[in-house]
Amino acid sequence: MMKVLAIESSCDEFAVAIVKDGRFVLSEVVNSQIDIHKMYGGVIPEVAARSHLEVALAVVDECMKGFSWDGIDAIAVTARPGLIGSLMIGTLVARTLAILKKKPLYAVDHIEGHVYAAFLNSENGCNVPQFPFLALVVSGGHTQIMLFRGHSDYEIIGRTIDDAVGEAFDKVAKILGLPYPGGPSVAKVAKNGNAEAYKLPKPRVDGYNFSFSGLKTAVLRAVQHEVGVDHTFPSSSLSTRLTASQRDDFAASFQKTAVEILIEKVVAAADEYEVKSIVLAGGVAANEELRKALIRARKSQGKQLKLFIPKIKWCTDNAAMIGARAYFLAKENPPVDPRDLGIYPTK
Ligand code: KG4
Ligand code: ZN
Repeated sequence: MMKVLAIESSCDEFAVAIVKDGRFVLSEVVNSQIDIHKMYGGVIPEVAARSHLEVALAVVDECMKGFSWDGIDAIAVTARPGLIGSLMIGTLVARTLAILKKKPLYAVDHIEGHVYAAFLNSENGCNVPQFPFLALVVSGGHTQIMLFRGHSDYEIIGRTIDDAVGEAFDKVAKILGLPYPGGPSVAKVAKNGNAEAYKLPKPRVDGYNFSFSGLKTAVLRAVQHEVGVDHTFPSSSLSTRLTASQRDDFAASFQKTAVEILIEKVVAAADEYEVKSIVLAGGVAANEELRKALIRARKSQGKQLKLFIPKIKWCTDNAAMIGARAYFLAKENPPVDPRDLGIYPTK
């Protein structure tokens, strides 16, 4: 039995969790900064780091309520990739705790963490992805398909050549005048919209790579066309000229196209690599239409392909996924030196 205290602070959330055996979440606390960043329409790195600094120790204390340090076997922390100031606060807290409490420290990659959210299943801990599996990672910073042959053996078989899909959701939200964070706002109004109202182009990209910047621009051009202005019109004022139903139709049409782009590639990759499971991971995996589309695609394949779609709270940034990843890493790798842990913002 191994209990890991995990810390995630790579972006705008300071999250701490205690995870048993990489699967069971015993305690978790998340301090979200959504209310702060809403005021600016996005994450301001300096503000995020300062807020982490203010809440870090209180969040650790809160998560440890009812637990003793004697019962904690290891500490895990996100060390890459992310905002540099945000990563610094989380890793410094983790390194200090590891030294003071004399616990082994594991450095976790945020993206690998997102994938391992699929191993968290408090209701049925036996049901976990089997190798080889594919992971479709869709977040604000990443869009990629990873082929896992083992816990420490994976390959990225495709990735976005420009924007991440979450970034496209966020940018389209801005064009449509929807509040931060953009993904959930777009998804919400899309429910009332007609996804067939606007035909948006799907990019042609080689292999399992993706491109989302053209789709975002296609939405922009279509909105400009719809309200009768040219490309010189300030995009920040466009939404004031849209009716609510046009806005909802644009949101629905964009969402449908983005989902189709993702599903087509991941289904083709699952066929080629003959995997046993597909994992859906990252913030955009919280998107209901994407979740449903993947379930439909699996059904129509008629193969013994299992899907692992984490609970919504474990799709967006959280510490439980870092605790899960650390457990499986720890089985195959030594801990890191807490006095010498670097952070790698862009790796
Ligand atoms: O994984 P995450 O929490 O942070 C990163 O590591 O980037 O992902 C955040 C991204 C944002 O772009 C956000 O707009 C998007 O996930 N997102 C969604 C939904 N919930 C969050 N996108 C579409 N539909 C959602 N329901
Ligand atoms: Zn993330």
